[in-house]
Amino acid sequence: MANSICFVITVDGPSASGKGTLARRLAKHFCLRYLDTGSIYRAIAFKMEKNGCDSLQAELAERIALRLAKEDLNEPELRREDIGLKASVIAAYPKVREAVLDYQREFAYTLPGAVLDGRDIGTVVCPNATAKIYLDANREIRVTRRLKELQLRGMESIEAHVLLEMKERDKRDKKRSVAPLKLAQDAYLIDSSNLTEDEVFENAVCFIEKKYGEVV
Ligand code: CDP
Repeated sequence: MANSICFVITVDGPSASGKGTLARRLAKHFCLRYLDTGSIYRAIAFKMEKNGCDSLQAELAERIALRLAKEDLNEPELRREDIGLKASVIAAYPKVREAVLDYQREFAYTLPGAVLDGRDIGTVVCPNATAKIYLDANREIRVTRRLKELQLRGMESIEAHVLLEMKERDKRDKKRSVAPLKLAQDAYLIDSSNLTEDEVFENAVCFIEKKYGEVV
């Protein structure tokens, strides 16, 4: 159940905008737990692939979503770019989103609170969060970051493919009818295109501390 004493920080934004890096650092800084909600949708896509099913089978996706276990979120292959693309197809099914909503809310509202990153955290999952951040960056920079990330993970990738898939994913995530990616009206927008990781982090901490000061 939602606990209003919990300290909840939401970080939303498009693919490779730096959400994960920022959210992890914020969780460490404020001694909170961290949930990468994208890994939930990726895990469903991965399970479907393992079962030889394509991502267009909405009912199957819902069934898998209802049976998802915490351990399913730790599979290294979830980071594959094609799994990200399939995840965005699955994430557009309303029943899939419904099936994973309680898990995310319970995670957020277990004391002392948590940092969650994703697409709809500040708008749908935790609309009453303590502080909301929306992290953006131009697409060219996001593609460069994603290529670097994939390279570090030892995953082969081609720039033109990453760019195409990112375009497709951005469009689908923003245009879908349920929980589309959008700036929550009370979110703090950070454009990280020309900022270092430290600058993004300091900017976010400054905003969160100010916000926290308003609620205590
Ligand atoms: O790492 P990246 O930002 O590229 O993707 P992700 O956060 O792992 O999310 C993969 C896909 O899951 C996204 O493209 C979204 O379609 C979906 N997603 C979502 O719909 N809602 C969330 N809260 C998180 C992810």
